Amino acid sequence: MVYLKQQRPEKVTVPAVRASKERGEKLVCLTAYDYPTARIVDEAGTDIILVGDSLGNVVLGYDSTVPVTLEEMLHHTRAVRRGVERALLVADMPYGTYHTGADDAVRAALRLVKEGGAEAVKLEGGRGRAEVIRRLVAEEIPVMGHVGLTPQSLNKLGGYRLQAKTADAACALVEDALMLQEAGVFAVVLEVVPHEIAREVTAALRVPTVGIGAGPDCDAQILVTHDLLGLSFSKTSPRFVRQYASLRDAMGEAIQAYADDVRSGAFPSEQESYPLPADAAAELGLKREADDKESQKP
Ligand code: KIV
Repeated sequence: MVYLKQQRPEKVTVPAVRASKERGEKLVCLTAYDYPTARIVDEAGTDIILVGDSLGNVVLGYDSTVPVTLEEMLHHTRAVRRGVERALLVADMPYGTYHTGADDAVRAALRLVKEGGAEAVKLEGGRGRAEVIRRLVAEEIPVMGHVGLTPQSLNKLGGYRLQAKTADAACALVEDALMLQEAGVFAVVLEVVPHEIAREVTAALRVPTVGIGAGPDCDAQILVTHDLLGLSFSKTSPRFVRQYASLRDAMGEAIQAYADDVRSGAFPSEQESYPLPADAAAELGLKREADDKESQKP
C-alpha cells in the first residue's frame, strides 16, 4: 500500500494547521471512532482526525448526535488515540457539555485532553460560544469552531438543511466565523453552506476553514470516514458525500462466503485445523490424518 504519510511525515500540530493556510496547503481531515480505523486513516496520511460526535449516528446507532455522552466520547477518543501517531487528534464536545457555562466546558474539555488524549476539542455554534471558547483557549485547550449546519441543534433547526442561504443568514455566518476567530479558534468547520459563502468566510479568516458540504474553496475538507468507505447506514446520502469504496457490500459478501463454507463443511480445512501430536495419537491409538511440520503451526 502507498502511504501518503511519507509525503508529509512530520507530526501535525495546532501551529502547523494555522501555518498551512499561509502556505496555501490543503489539509485532509477525516473522522475515526476506533483503533483500527484510526490506524488506517492516520497511516494514509490524513492531517486531522476528528473523533466526531457523529459516532452517535455512525457507530452507536442513535438517530442523531444529541444523545452522545461525554463518557462515550472519552471511550472512543481513547481508542482512537492509541491508533494515531501523526495526525492532529481533535475530539468533539458532545451536546450539553459546554451549554451550562465556561467552568463546565473547561471540565469536560480537560477530560477529553487528559483522559482521552485529544490535542484539541471542537464545539458547535457561532457568536454565542465566543465566551466559552475564550475561556477554553485561556486554559490552553485548542478549540476548533463549527458553524453552518450544526447537527446538535437538530431540535431547533427541524432537520439537516442547507444553511446561510439568505443574504442576512450569510452575513451572520461570516460575522459568526470572525467572532470565533477573535475568540481564539485555530480552525472553523463550515458545514452545508453555499460554496460562495464558504469562499467568503475562507477569504475573511486568518485561520483555516474545514469544509463539509461547503464547496472546494475551503482550506481543508472533512468527511465522515464511514460515508467515504460506503459503510454508512443512514437513510439518505447527502450530495456532498463522495463514496470511494463499497465496504458494506464487500463485508456482506465476505460474511456470506464464510457462512456458505461453514454450512457446506468447506470451512475449516485441514490446514486450518490442529492435528494431535504423533506420540499422543499413538498412545491414544488414534490414526493421525496429517503429519507435516506445516500443520503444527499455531
Ligand atoms: O461529528 C462529526 O463527525 C463532525 C464532522 C462531520 C465535521 O462534526
